[in-house]
Amino acid sequence: MKPAQIERTPWADLDSQPSEMTAMLVAALESMGRHPEIRRVRETAMAAMRPQPGERLLDAGAGAGDVARRLAAAVGPTGEVLALDHSAATTAAALRRHDGSNVRYLTGDVSAIDLPDDTVDGVWCERVLQHVDDADAAITELIRVTRPGGRLCLVDTDWTSLAFDGVPGRLARTIVADMHGRLTPRQRDMGRSLRRRLVSQRLAQVTATPVTCLFGDPASAAVVLPMVNPNVPADAWTTAPGVRDAWFSDVESAGARGDFLAVLTIWVVTGTLD
Ligand SMILES: C[S@@+](CC[C@H](N)C(=O)[O-])C[C@H]1O[C@@H](n2cnc3c(N)ncnc32)[C@H](O)[C@@H]1O
Repeated sequence: MKPAQIERTPWADLDSQPSEMTAMLVAALESMGRHPEIRRVRETAMAAMRPQPGERLLDAGAGAGDVARRLAAAVGPTGEVLALDHSAATTAAALRRHDGSNVRYLTGDVSAIDLPDDTVDGVWCERVLQHVDDADAAITELIRVTRPGGRLCLVDTDWTSLAFDGVPGRLARTIVADMHGRLTPRQRDMGRSLRRRLVSQRLAQVTATPVTCLFGDPASAAVVLPMVNPNVPADAWTTAPGVRDAWFSDVESAGARGDFLAVLTIWVVTGTLD
């Protein structure tokens, strides 16, 4: 049976999730920020974004604010970072982690930002657009608040790129097909579509870098891939009875043998406003 598509992921409206789910997802943001492969993606994005001292930057969909604080260190005391997220839970988590750096935490929607035109020198938007209803409208809004000559740095996942090895191929294909079936094309393919979206908005100097993340053991993969995370509640699974248990048993065996492998490409795409 085909799984039902989810038009909105839990990240699209964190605050209306059951409190345990919200807590799990907020904690996941922190673990992801520490993961070496996510750090590698962010290094790539930092190199492409090149934050400069004195700049005012927007982190759109800032989550727990790890990147906002890192950007604040780069822009220094004469600069400023606006960390915007529409979830009160993530904004509260970001405030708890605040380190005194020059970050202003704002609650709001990336598709309707309460800032005047041309307010910021650059925007970072990481793993957010796959969760918004209209990514192009959100990008238009990010462009509106950015001054001419400023730049956008968009980072997003390409779920269609997910592949496994070390586990039985048929079972892995079932798991991947189930995920593909539940996601809309926008959610599935956001990473690879970012370049096209910036080109169609006529941004200049568009760069696109695919960063393929390697997960060489189940514990490492579980931080980023929900279908390898045993803490995702069993009732959130939509596969046929028995598939989840068989999958985790095979994942564990592959981990014990040392030949578990998962790969996922995350795209870093930048562009400059004329
Ligand atoms: C997967 S998390 C990524 C957070 C952060 N950018 C990071 O990379 O750690 C997605 C974030 O986007 C936020 N979000 C989703 N839709 C949003 C919207 N329309 N406006 C503002 N924030 C949104 C969620 O609340 C969540 O914090």
